[in-house]
This record gives sequence, C-alpha cells and structure tokens, in this order.
Amino acid sequence: MKQINTVISRLQWSADITNRERKERVALLIANMMRDGQVIGAGSGSTVYVAMLAIAEKVKRENLDIEIIPASHEISMTCVQLGLRQTTLWEKTPDWTFDGADEVDPQQSLIKGRGGAMFKEKLLICNSKKTFIIVDQSKFVGRLGEKFPVPVEVFPQSLVYVEQQLEALGARDITLRMAKGKDGPVITENGNFVLDAWFDNIDPLMEKKIKNITGVIESGLFIGYNVEILKN
Ligand code: A5P
Repeated sequence: MKQINTVISRLQWSADITNRERKERVALLIANMMRDGQVIGAGSGSTVYVAMLAIAEKVKRENLDIEIIPASHEISMTCVQLGLRQTTLWEKTPDWTFDGADEVDPQQSLIKGRGGAMFKEKLLICNSKKTFIIVDQSKFVGRLGEKFPVPVEVFPQSLVYVEQQLEALGARDITLRMAKGKDGPVITENGNFVLDAWFDNIDPLMEKKIKNITGVIESGLFIGYNVEILKN
C-alpha cells in the first residue's frame, strides 16, 4: 500500500530524546521478544517510541504478523507512520505489554505519567499477563517521589476538591499541569486535567487512597504491579 503524505506521516517525536543510545539498546530487547501472531500492548513516552522503531524494523525484516494496542494518540500515530497494525482492548487481549517509567523504586513500584497517558497505560497493564518496563539507569530511585511528582488525572469540575483531598494525604506543591502550544491547562486524551503532586512519603496504600477520591480518574502511581524491569 502506498504511504500517503499526511500530517501523521510527517510527525516527529515532540521533544529531544534523552539517553537515546541507552533507550535504543533496551528497545532491542523488546523487539527481540516479539513472536509472529502476537498482540502487544504499547505504553507511551520516548522509550516506547524508540522501541516502536525497533519493532517496526523487525516486523519488516522477518515479515511478522503483529498487532499493537497503543496507550496514546502519540503511539497510535507512530503505528500509522511505521505501518504497524493496531487493534483495541474491545477486540483483543495483549499477549504482553511494554512501557516506560519516570521512577522505579527498589520494590519495582513506579511513577509514570510525565506524558499524561497513565490512565490508558494502567488499563493496558491490568489487561496483560506480563508487562515489561523498559528504563535506562536514570529512572532508578531510592524512594518514589524523589525526582518526580505524582501525576493525578482529574475530572475538571473536581479540581478544587481533589486538591484539598490530596493535601489531606500529605501532598505539597500541587500544580495544575499547563499546556504548551495551547493556552490553559493540559487536557488529557480523556478530556480531563492533570494535577502534579509532590509527596515526601508514599506508603504502599497511597495509590488506592488517591484513586478513592471522587473525581480522580487515575494516578501515575503503580505500586506492587506484576512487572519485569528491563534496563540498560
Ligand atoms: C507517559 O505518560 C509516561 O508514563 C511514560 O511512560 C513515562 O513518562 C516515561 O517516559 P520516557 O520514556 O519518555 O522517559
């Protein structure tokens, strides 16, 4: 099929990719795991993007029949650019999923969501028997919350209530994530806002406590999930 020159085919990764060589090495591990006929969940972010490039190369070289379930518009459009077939969670369950992370603690719990896609990323992980988290060395921390705030996706009208409830859970310096290229706040792919909340202490129940606040769609805390960390 002839590739049509559209805005999608001309898209480039939106920001500079830090630690690109390391990300490329870990991306190869993911590409090498693919088997013909598999359905693969793909998270979001620059590490996933680099892995998609490696996957597309392998699919082409070995003529594999692979379907991707993407966690974001960004990765969905990357599939279109690279000619990778896509499907949805309505039709298929992923054989396995891969994703990046912002922080990984010694218990393999994560903070994710720098790109605002944590809701669909969590949905993919919950739907997968196996998930690989691909990270470079810079993502490892002694405790969650060391380098990144916890992103919390909120229904817009619940903003003030959720802020108060997060403060009651010990959050500080809560900010509304602002858009670049649009005035006002970031609007997620689900039509919501994102609050970024710093925590000095994240206990094992914090993910559930945040999720329990009315108006919270999802947070970027992934505590105690069945994930395997692949690093370079
Ligand atoms: C997207 O919302 C995030 O959860 C990313 O997976 C995470 O921020 C890691 O991104 P990078 O691979 O770009 O570091």
